[in-house]
Amino acid sequence: MRESIPNPLHDPRAEAVLARLHAQGEREFKYLLAHGLVHMLQRWVTRRTPDIHWDFLRDKLIPLHPDKCRLAYVLCCSLRAQRVVEFGTSFGVSTIYLAAAVRDSAQGGTDGLVIGTEIEPTKAAAARAHLAEAGLAEFVDVREGDALETLQNVGGPADFLLLDSWTRYARPIIEIMAPQLRPGAIVMADNVGQLPGAYRAYTDYIRNPANGFRSTLWPYKGGVEISVRLP
Ligand SMILES: C[S@@+](CC[C@H](N)C(=O)[O-])C[C@H]1O[C@@H](n2cnc3c(N)ncnc32)[C@H](O)[C@@H]1O
Repeated sequence: MRESIPNPLHDPRAEAVLARLHAQGEREFKYLLAHGLVHMLQRWVTRRTPDIHWDFLRDKLIPLHPDKCRLAYVLCCSLRAQRVVEFGTSFGVSTIYLAAAVRDSAQGGTDGLVIGTEIEPTKAAAARAHLAEAGLAEFVDVREGDALETLQNVGGPADFLLLDSWTRYARPIIEIMAPQLRPGAIVMADNVGQLPGAYRAYTDYIRNPANGFRSTLWPYKGGVEISVRLP
């Protein structure tokens, strides 16, 4: 983690959990990189595209980069977000930032909530434990199962949506979520610049003004697509 970028959280309890998880994520990243290289080599030798190794990814954190987590935090605070939806919770790293934003931007008497989604039960359990350790459990509902099902009803207009999961789901998830976003809501999708082909179906949708969004690609590492829902 680059320390020159200030952390807007100012929450020592949450930051202690995050420091540990970000460090674990960085260690795992090296394995992911090695795995990716083997994957590319296989493709080159066999001349065909091997399946993504879901089993290998099953227990990996693959957390959102700290810079992007911080961006999500300030965007949520700016929106005074009280209903935040996250596609892809994993061990709960980005979720901690989102939950802190919901807590920090609450305006007396509101019941802010982050709706997390995680298909792997062990990861969902780990995320809940990390949120409790960070003192933020009361602000999060980690919905276990396939987000295509668990996001059918988020219980009211959402202020912010984070897409940080497998690219093939991005299009169906935005189609499920678009009618559940309030005017002015922001959608943040990770790695759109790095994986333009995999995200094509998503960008075709979100960049088409007829679908009610205005969208731009931010030059963060990997490229983050930031989109706003128009009235
Ligand atoms: C990149 S990780 C999320 C990282 C997380 N946002 C963080 O910062 O720690 C993507 C996660 O999406 C989960 N996932 C994949 N497909 C899913 C689906 N259909 N429904 C719910 N979760 C899914 C994976 O198990 C994985 O943990």
